[in-house]
Amino acid sequence: MPVSNSQPDRNNVQGMIMRGYTHPWSCHLIFKFATQPGAKGFIKAILPYVQSAADWGDDKPEMMLNIGLTFTGLKVVSKLTTSDLAGFPPTFKQGPASAGSQQSLNDGKSNIDTWVFGQTGKQVDCVVHVYGMDEPALNKLVKIVADAAVAGGLTEYLPIANGTKRLEEYATVPRNSIHFGYLDGIDQPALNWGNPDDPADLSAFLIGYPNNTSQPGPSQGNAGVFAKDGCYNAFRMLYQDVDTFDNFLDTNAKEIAPKLGLSIADATEWMAAKLNGRWRDGSPLELTPDKPNPELSHATAFGYSGDTTGMKCPFSAHNRVANPRDEVLSEPGLPPRLIRRGMAYGQPFNSKTASEDRGLIGLFLCGSLSNQFELLYSWINTTNFSNIFPNQQGQDALIANRSMPGADTSFTIPTSKGPVEIESLPQFVVTRGTAYCLLPSISTLKSIVE
Ligand code: HEM
Repeated sequence: MPVSNSQPDRNNVQGMIMRGYTHPWSCHLIFKFATQPGAKGFIKAILPYVQSAADWGDDKPEMMLNIGLTFTGLKVVSKLTTSDLAGFPPTFKQGPASAGSQQSLNDGKSNIDTWVFGQTGKQVDCVVHVYGMDEPALNKLVKIVADAAVAGGLTEYLPIANGTKRLEEYATVPRNSIHFGYLDGIDQPALNWGNPDDPADLSAFLIGYPNNTSQPGPSQGNAGVFAKDGCYNAFRMLYQDVDTFDNFLDTNAKEIAPKLGLSIADATEWMAAKLNGRWRDGSPLELTPDKPNPELSHATAFGYSGDTTGMKCPFSAHNRVANPRDEVLSEPGLPPRLIRRGMAYGQPFNSKTASEDRGLIGLFLCGSLSNQFELLYSWINTTNFSNIFPNQQGQDALIANRSMPGADTSFTIPTSKGPVEIESLPQFVVTRGTAYCLLPSISTLKSIVE
């Protein structure tokens, strides 16, 4: 099927692609299929609850879900032939633990061996994202999904029955906040329609429409028909080491407070902001470099090209790396964008919950795993996206994998009183599992169970 210029039908697109849900309760269930009939029966049973991107007006669903299939999963359930399947991009086919993907993700073998899901031996075929307006609504739909999984003979990773918990968000940290205390969910691509040169256009994310920046695919043949109106989801479970993060802030705040003429409390917030590029209240360093400004918490209209010294926002601050905006890039073109639909999981860190698991359930949506998600990840691990600071490469200060061979884990924070030099940043975030899913269109999901 050739790529099409006509506007996508929202009724055919899974809802999370086109909008962020505001349901405060969610649960993410991760499965391996056993047989084709079992897998099809499972999808058929939960299909009535799939939420599309159509406007729900005043009739907000109490409970709803979206379904992702990995390449191994769609091989089980689709009618595609081997030659059709060859049309999918290698990154999707080979999966996140493959050598190719690991060149960007750089999780390292010893980390991958500890993943809860997603590596050889723990193959993921399907991820179901369930949302509820309250706990009973969530539990009701989770039970429907879990019962259908049992009936279809599926294996579930992270089931409650194992004594571990599923990946759940129970609004345990304030909505739109994440562990480490930052406001999240601020900047998202605009998802306008009709500009194939815009990396924030919906066509950069939905498969089957021309976009020159991310080139979503497959767009040809039976694979193109199957994938049209779908979108990829790099689903990543990321542990956040709050203890290490807090200790890092404490230790460094005490050291730098006298140099900067700040109180220890203000130096702590300053350091947290320099790692991220926004203050913990969300206000961007570029617009308010000296102190947080809650009025700018959701500000998105700014760039970095006027800050070539990094005096306002360090070059390797997470937000500057993950979306360099108008920064001059090493390769010509605009930076890729991601739709982020993630949320915190686990209880807030305190002395009683210290040993519990917590972190980010990362849903990174894109039309091309390699041109968007993995390209950004390679920038996160090496900050090689721009030549403007030739002597300051380093890594994303907040989330990079420090164990990557040859990693420069130093962090330089330019200030008017001379640079603050951190010799080696700790590992704040540890990957617990990854799955590359296709969020197929609703017509494709229906065709699977016909
Ligand atoms: C536990 C891990 C992570 C933490 C704690 C974290 C934290 C944050 C925070 C606090 C923001 C600012 C809020 C916002 O703009 O919505 C942000 C923005 C962002 N993050 Fe992350 N993040 C994490 C993982 C990732 C990963 C793995 C990626 C990409 C592969 C990523 C990509 C982005 C992008 C693209 C933005 C928006 C930047 C902008 O448009 O200015 N993040 N992140």
